[in-house]
Order: sequence, then structure tokens, then C-alpha cells
Amino acid sequence: MILKSYRYTNEVILEHLSEQIIQSDTLEALEKLRIDIFGKKGVLATEFAKLKDIPAMEKKAFAEGLNRHKETLQNSFDAKFDMLQNEAIEQRLKSDFIDVSLYSSLAKKGALHPVMETMDKIIEYFVAMNFSIESGPMVEDDFHNFEALNLPKHHPARDMQDTFYFRDGHLLRTHTSPVQIRRMLETKPPIRMIAPGSVFRRDYDLTHTPMFHQVEGLVVEEKGKVSFANLKSILNDFLKSMFGDVEIRFRPSFFPFTEPSAEVDISCIFCKGKGCRVCSHTGWLEVLGCGIVDPNVFKAVGYKEVSGYAFGLGVERFAMLMHQIPDLRSLFEGDIRLLEQFR
Ligand code: DAH
Repeated sequence: MILKSYRYTNEVILEHLSEQIIQSDTLEALEKLRIDIFGKKGVLATEFAKLKDIPAMEKKAFAEGLNRHKETLQNSFDAKFDMLQNEAIEQRLKSDFIDVSLYSSLAKKGALHPVMETMDKIIEYFVAMNFSIESGPMVEDDFHNFEALNLPKHHPARDMQDTFYFRDGHLLRTHTSPVQIRRMLETKPPIRMIAPGSVFRRDYDLTHTPMFHQVEGLVVEEKGKVSFANLKSILNDFLKSMFGDVEIRFRPSFFPFTEPSAEVDISCIFCKGKGCRVCSHTGWLEVLGCGIVDPNVFKAVGYKEVSGYAFGLGVERFAMLMHQIPDLRSLFEGDIRLLEQFR
């Protein structure tokens, strides 16, 4: 008799719960049911606790019945949970929908700074011509920046470059030419390199900034294997690839580290050589310096029986000419209105 009443209670409660699961229509309601049924103090726990009071004969049947109920409840709970959760996800997808095709005025694209873009173009050309890319420190010493480049102390040509000095005698490199020296000291010829990088001079006006960028070039071969003709040929090709169909002229000049030296002009890309303000009415724009490496430079690094050529150019000058920017300083002001035009 007692046993029957146990079982009776189970059936009614459990079936009622089963019904409640099926009828619940929110995840919150279902969660409450989960605690009521499966929780530590839930119905199932209470029912299983009765087991110890049930006579041995009936224990098995009672437990089996209860387990069946438990399984049924669990299955219908799981099914209902999945259903409600899917519904909730669907609902959220509908309400949180983002129309990614919608135009936004906030969508700003970044771009390389014109100086870096120009630098990349220059590097790309020389890499294609089998030059390696080298670098050196920006804080240099007198030997690499001047002495080894045939600029002994008190040489008047040192005045060409207004130098930032540190108290200990170090300096901010005034050009990328010291990378030539570093490379030659660490390796044997042949060398075929460019050295892009920042350089520093005490100068600030329409056409000068205290920091700017240069690309240095150096080719060293066995004596007699490179000549001025090779230098001319590669620079001609390089300048045409940068500026298009321009005239190019080599003008005799002086640099301490090259002999003979030349400055290279292109016909003015603004007036096509007719003469305008940009080219100071000469029809020509100076774009780089170059020459045959001076024997004193090779002597300073202990190179014998070699010949070579070198060149150096200012990247900002190239960028200004390629993008027709009149004031060098605008490249350094970070004015977004200017930079946006280069996207
Ligand atoms: N170093 C020179 C300067 O800063 C540029 C230069 C000219 C580099 C002639 C060279 C060269 O290698 O041959 O003005």
C-alpha cells in the first residue's frame, strides 16, 4: 500500500512536469524548470532520496521507473531547450542585422605617405636591377660620415653639410654615404647595393628640413669592370622609369668621395623644358649626384684593384617632383588634407 502511494506521487508530479516543459515558451521559464526538476533540491533528487526508505523488494522497480521518467524528462527538456535557443538566435539575427553594403562616411582608407611610396618605387627599381638593400646607424661617427669618404677634418666641403653633433663627437649622419663605408668594411667586392634611410642636417626652409631621406647607391667590381658609361646607363634608365619620357643630362660637379663627379638633371617636368618658376627658368631640374668612386675612399676601407661608381639622391625631392608638391615642409606637417590626396 505504501509503495503504491510512492509510485502514485511520482507519476503525477513527473507527468505534470513533463507537460510544463512542453508548454514553456521562454528560455527563462525553462531554466526555472530545470532547477525545479534537475537541481540539487529538485523533484528528481527528492524522489531518488525516497529510495532508501523503500523495501528491498520494490527498490528495483521503483528505481527503474524513476530512471525512465528522468530520461523522458531529460529528452524533452533537451529538445525544448534546443528549440527555444534556436528561436532566440534567429530572433537575434533578425534584430541585430547589419547591412554591410550600406555606405559609411566614416570609412577612411589609409595610404602610404608620399615619401614612403616614392622610396618604395626607388627601391623596387634597384631590387629589380639586382642591388641589395643595406642599412647603417643614424648616429654615426666622424670616420664613417666624413673621414673615410675623403672628407678629412677641416676639409672645406664639410661645410656643405651642416651637421648635428653630440657632445661625445658622434653625429647624426648627414647623408647615407657612410653605409657605403660600412658595407665595404664588412664584405669583399663585388658590391652592388643601395642604402635608403633618414639623414639629418641643420637646415629649415622651403626646400630643406632637418630630417629627410636619401638613397645611396654603390657598385664595386674588379678594376676596369665598371666605368662612367655603366653609371650613365643605369641612371638614365632609372630616371626614365621614375619620371617617364624626360631628357637627362650629366653636368660635371664635385663630391669629395667621387672623381670625376656629376650632377644629373632631368628636363623640367612642369614646363617640358621651356622654363618656369619650378626650374628657375633653366628648363632643368637637378635630381641626383653621382660619380666614379674616389681612390681615397677605397684606400680608407683597404680595397685594392677595384673600380666602382656611386650615386645619391634625395627622396623628398623625387616625391615633390613626382607629385608636384611646391613646399617640402608640407610633407612633414602631417596635414590630413594634403595626405588624403595621395590615396
Ligand atoms: N652624399 C651626397 C649628399 O648627401 C650625395 C651623393 C653624391 C652621394 C654623389 C654619392 C655620390 O654617392 O656619388 O649630398
